Amino acid sequence: MFLLEQVLSQLEIELSISSTELLTIASSFQKHMEQGLSECNSSLKMFPSYLQAPNGCEVGTFLALDFGGSNARGAVVKLEGEGTFQEINRLSRPLLDPDSGRDYRAPDVTAEELFDFLAGILQEVFTNFLTQNPTLKSITPRPLPLGFAFSFPYRQRTIREGFLLNWNKEVKTSGVVGKDVGSLLSAALERRGLSSIIKPTAIINDTVTTFLTAAYQDHSVDIASIIGTGHNTCYLETKAPGFDSPVIVNTESGNFSDAPETTYDLILDQQSNNPGEQRFEKKLSGKYLGELFRQIVLGFSHQGLLGTLNNPPAPALWNQPYSISGKVLSLILTEEHSHSSLAAGDEYVALQRIAYLLTKRSARLMAASLIGVVRHLDPDLNHPHTVAIDGSLYKGMPGYAQELWAALNEGFGSKANLVTVKLSAGGSLTGAAIAAAITSCRKPSYTASE
Ligand code: GLC
Repeated sequence: MFLLEQVLSQLEIELSISSTELLTIASSFQKHMEQGLSECNSSLKMFPSYLQAPNGCEVGTFLALDFGGSNARGAVVKLEGEGTFQEINRLSRPLLDPDSGRDYRAPDVTAEELFDFLAGILQEVFTNFLTQNPTLKSITPRPLPLGFAFSFPYRQRTIREGFLLNWNKEVKTSGVVGKDVGSLLSAALERRGLSSIIKPTAIINDTVTTFLTAAYQDHSVDIASIIGTGHNTCYLETKAPGFDSPVIVNTESGNFSDAPETTYDLILDQQSNNPGEQRFEKKLSGKYLGELFRQIVLGFSHQGLLGTLNNPPAPALWNQPYSISGKVLSLILTEEHSHSSLAAGDEYVALQRIAYLLTKRSARLMAASLIGVVRHLDPDLNHPHTVAIDGSLYKGMPGYAQELWAALNEGFGSKANLVTVKLSAGGSLTGAAIAAAITSCRKPSYTASE
């Protein structure tokens, strides 16, 4: 036990982010933001979203589609103004079809097949909507505007297009990288005879949908973050080069490259599908926390420190990459060790401590990046700021939100009360509909330079 305790203390040192490091990472993040905005070499892509903040008065009926990982979802969204909305005819489909075993994320799937699958979801949502509202058939004078939440790194020149730079979150579908996902979706809608009925008007990242949904209800929101399977942050930039009014900028913070790295991080990165990329996300998000945990536990076990892990059926679990999800980590943190089938007694307490250290590091790194964003917007912190957050770690990982708030308080010191953090309720579909509303109802207000 003594040796286990020593090794755990060493791990605690490796994974800890001190108060000084918190501020150093924050100022490096701020520097990368500023370099990215001026198109200098930076790990932050700083993509303008071509969207301004909503004013809460957007109203009407819109279609929304959301694809950002393992599930795709569609819905009709009724925006009722004054921050109220309803999602109806909501439909969710896994990218891995449980009946046929077809995985639309696999490299042997073509872009056409993936987008036909997505257009199929929209067709089903729209058909259900018409069945329930038969009178609409004859009175709908123009196609329904569609907002498409697409949560991967893409470059835009207008709100309607998005050229995929690279896949992440283990999606590998062929023929999409380098292409405009707006055109791919329009072509798939055309193949289904839907192009006169559904009109894609906006492509949006999920951090931007989080921003829009939260800001629709609360105009003080100026930053939004996702911490779930992936991680990313956007904010309202008042001085984006080439834009004459404030625009929401997607930082693609998951790719930030300047955070302390342990041997475990290096190994995970090297064994991943995209070595060298998304290194911040690989330390923070649910997709990777379970895998870091598995590698650390396996390392301990190989040193003879965690013997009961060798009891069946544990070896199969521990030897399989990505077999431990963020959800399993949450359970480990909540479950009484006496009820656990993973390990016994003191060893289970050790597992909980490893899970806690990884969770705490994630929350502190996320806080550091948010401090960087606030400092960029308001160097002396003279004004109030509201950060809207969505994602399974913030909502469900025991202790996560508390560690994040504590680190923000530590970073902002006596001015911490100027920064409010709130859960963004609503999600991507509503945000996508708000984007469709902004783009289809208002005159374009941007004159972006090429
Ligand atoms: C990944 C994507 C990013 C997305 C985030 C959360 O980091 O690159 O676009 O916002 O995951 O889903």
